[in-house]
Amino acid sequence: VIKAFLFDLDGVIVDTAIYHYQAWKRLANELGFDISEEFNERLKGVSRMESLNLILEHGGLTLPDETRAELAAQKNEWYLELVSRMTPDDILPGVPQFFAQVRKAGLLTALGSVSKNAPLIIERIGMAQVFDAIIDGNKITRGKPDPEVFLKGADELEVNPAECVVFEDAVAGVEAGKRGGMFVVGIGSPGVLTLADMVAPSLQELTVEQVLDKAK
Ligand code: G6P
Ligand code: MG
Repeated sequence: VIKAFLFDLDGVIVDTAIYHYQAWKRLANELGFDISEEFNERLKGVSRMESLNLILEHGGLTLPDETRAELAAQKNEWYLELVSRMTPDDILPGVPQFFAQVRKAGLLTALGSVSKNAPLIIERIGMAQVFDAIIDGNKITRGKPDPEVFLKGADELEVNPAECVVFEDAVAGVEAGKRGGMFVVGIGSPGVLTLADMVAPSLQELTVEQVLDKAK
């Protein structure tokens, strides 16, 4: 029996994925190369440092730890500039309606994000009080595709992984949910999120009933 829904943040509840991409692209451009949207798919759900490492590898650069720490901080500064302008209007279409259904169905909810900025973002969009548990980048040691973030969510909610549904837009996040033993709803395209148990373009195209029906 499904008891809880665990939500990724970036790309599921808000479109901060685009801000991460813009900030990383700016950094790559300053370093003399570019990153495509296709390459960006590999960064989704991946921690800040791991993302930087993938980008530097992509650009063929090897840099010392100290420089990498500076670059990651620079990216985060640009990212925060974009995020600080967010309001509840930035919540993706269908999210409030979906959460109303979730509450009505009596399901527990957790946020499962690798982002260290997740608390700030849910505050900005007025959703800080919505979740029964919040697991963010400050509470975990391993990013997705490691299942740690979702297993901690299940743990805090005191439910079993098999009683959880994960909502994810990232390839790494879908893998994390599957490795955690959870039913995973991919948010995006079926061609990209091949490991997901079901896929929808956004939460707007889904009802809680549809999800519970497939997950049982
Ligand atoms: C999410 C995003 C990633 C991002 C990661 C860390 O998982 O999908 O693109 O790199 O969080 O975010 P942070 O805000 O801590 O840099
Ligand atoms: Mg995401």
